[in-house]
Amino acid sequence: MNGEGKARAWDLVGDHYWNSGYYGGPAPEHQKEFARRIRPGARTAVVGASTVSLSRAVQQAGADLHVLDFAPGILRAAGQWLGLAEDRRHLVDVTRPIPEHLKRTNELVLADRLVNRFSADDLPAGIRGLRDLVAPMGILAVTVRFGLYPRDARIHAALTTAEQALFWRPDVGEVDYSVLPDRDIPLPVWGAISGDTMRKHLRARGREARFSRDELLLTVARAGGLDCEDVDDATDGTVLLTLRRSGAVGDV
Ligand SMILES: C[S@@+](CC[C@H](N)C(=O)[O-])C[C@H]1O[C@@H](n2cnc3c(N)ncnc32)[C@H](O)[C@@H]1O
Repeated sequence: MNGEGKARAWDLVGDHYWNSGYYGGPAPEHQKEFARRIRPGARTAVVGASTVSLSRAVQQAGADLHVLDFAPGILRAAGQWLGLAEDRRHLVDVTRPIPEHLKRTNELVLADRLVNRFSADDLPAGIRGLRDLVAPMGILAVTVRFGLYPRDARIHAALTTAEQALFWRPDVGEVDYSVLPDRDIPLPVWGAISGDTMRKHLRARGREARFSRDELLLTVARAGGLDCEDVDDATDGTVLLTLRRSGAVGDV
């Protein structure tokens, strides 16, 4: 839902995300774990063009990199930065049905905190979309953060009681950045990206799911066709979930 608004949020930031002195990629431990999974020559998808460190690692390992994103500007900027051929760039919203020509095509699908970007409504469809990109017996490796982000807690503390009720909805497991007020509140600082751009970016991201480990694993189980191989914690509070797509005939 509201995929276009969310995509605009990322195009507001564009290549400043990785060119302005901010590192928004995986924790070092997870970057190593991702790298360990990459095989030379294997078709490998990075979902989320902003995670250029991961895409670069895929290229350096000699794998066949494909980058998917729903935001045309950041996809173009990352594609240029990586020197990626047009037929390796895919404008796709993974919370929508995956185009047939991309289904079951990747031995490895990687995403860094992409799952935290989905709204609560879109979370099940997003997991199914990521699954559908994976070839039988292939791997889906995603980092996630469980619970509220530290920035969510800081924003929440700066809001009035009425604003808090709109911002954090524990009943649906969702924050809504679209309700951020105009006044000075503690927003994240991403390198040289201005406070004004950051406020517009967050507001356009709108609703994002916040979930526990059990809730996410239940959503994965309900999606079907994915077996959990590993759950690795990093010191920055993020978690790497490694899932294998089942290969049996008739599996989703
Ligand atoms: C990978 S996520 C998170 C990046 C970073 N690690 C962080 O935590 O902020 C951001 C990237 O995913 C893309 N993205 C977000 N939702 C998407 C969706 N539903 N389908 C495809 N790309 C999406 C955005 O356009 C952006 O390039």
